Amino acid sequence: MKLSLQFLLAALLSFILQMGICYGIKWIALSKTPAALALNQTQHCKQLEGLVVSQVQLCRSNLELMQTIIQAAREVIKTCRKTFSDMRWNCSSIDLAPNYLLDLERGTRESAFVYALSAAAISHTIARACTTGDLPGCSCGPIPGETPGPGYRWGGCADNLNYGLIMGSKFSDAPMKMKKSGSQANKLMHLHNSEVGRQVLKASLEMKCKCHGVSGSCSIKTCWKGLQELRDIALDLKNKYLSATKVVHRPMGTRKYLVPKDIDIRPVKETELIYLQSSPDFCMKNEKVGSHGTQDRQCNKTSNGSDSCDLMCCGRGYNPYMDKVVERCHCKYHWCCYVTCKKCERTVERYVCK
Ligand SMILES: *[C@@H]1O[C@H](CO)[C@@H](O)[C@H](O)[C@H]1NC(C)=O
Ligand SMILES: *[C@@H]1O[C@H](CO)[C@@H](O)[C@H](O)[C@H]1NC(C)=O
Ligand SMILES: *[C@@H]1O[C@H](CO)[C@@H](O)[C@H](O)[C@H]1NC(C)=O
Ligand SMILES: *[C@@H]1O[C@H](CO)[C@@H](O)[C@H](O)[C@H]1NC(C)=O
Repeated sequence: MKLSLQFLLAALLSFILQMGICYGIKWIALSKTPAALALNQTQHCKQLEGLVVSQVQLCRSNLELMQTIIQAAREVIKTCRKTFSDMRWNCSSIDLAPNYLLDLERGTRESAFVYALSAAAISHTIARACTTGDLPGCSCGPIPGETPGPGYRWGGCADNLNYGLIMGSKFSDAPMKMKKSGSQANKLMHLHNSEVGRQVLKASLEMKCKCHGVSGSCSIKTCWKGLQELRDIALDLKNKYLSATKVVHRPMGTRKYLVPKDIDIRPVKETELIYLQSSPDFCMKNEKVGSHGTQDRQCNKTSNGSDSCDLMCCGRGYNPYMDKVVERCHCKYHWCCYVTCKKCERTVERYVCK
């Protein structure tokens, strides 16, 4: 009797957890697409991993876009890991796509970041692919309406942000627009955070210029609007992750909205990342909550930041070990014009968490 009750409770719990699951970022599994897959016929779309039905349809009608979207999936993984390499949660679980652990399946702060980054990355990659001429459906972005200032004229090839935003959001928001996928609250959260990612991408559009004139005198400049690198956009989003707002799904009038959980009553801001579920501290290994723990993670004894041995190791202490680094040294300049160096080996002390 006792056992079956336990079983019932476990089943109920797993049902509740399933409710929260949304298929929103399963497309990142595209990063595993074998390079040999030709992707020049619509029936290839079925072979791609992690896509929901409407994404397979988008694949069929936009085949030429798929290599770019696969590249975007790889960018998301690389950039997420790099941006969080100094944190306890270091984005390593994104490799499990499309079968994530709870750190990315539930409405956590971590999933807020990954949704925002994914939305930004897909539009970024498409906008850039327009510029490099890799896509038949688009080319350079429009020449800005404003008249150029003194000393420069519009030229070059602008990143096609508009096309990137339209095609990128169509594809990456598709799972959240499905009727049967996860709870309403989760879908609202993911859509909001995806939009924050795109806002940061839009704000990253900046003027880039090239000098012309006699021997690079820069008497004439041509300028265009280009996007910042994805890693810089990811750093902006990491700051938003650190100050993200916890929200609840609350009825207001006839509909339910996500509103900040704390007492000061205000609507959610368009610029902030939001989450529904608090995360564990990621100190100890606990597969059930999607925490890998920080045992054996490298930490930095002299840092004051999140990679410091104190914070990274959660006060458990750390073990030193010796590591060899090979460097170029005794470099000599030879007339004219090359440099020769020797290779020197040096041992450095490094630390890993207990
Ligand atoms: C698709 O690509 C493969 C490999 O590049 C090639 O062998 C095949 O002929 C192509 N098919 C079509 C319909 O273009
Ligand atoms: C990220 O954390 C996991 C789990 O602690 C660890 O196995 C992995 O080596 C870490 N990755 C990096 C790049 O530090
Ligand atoms: C450790 O942190 C210090 C201070 O932030 C930094 O100068 C140093 O390069 C870091 N060392 C390593 C191995 O990352
Ligand atoms: C680290 O923090 C201590 C105490 O707050 C401070 O004295 C020190 O200058 C800081 N070091 C760095 C590299 O920021």
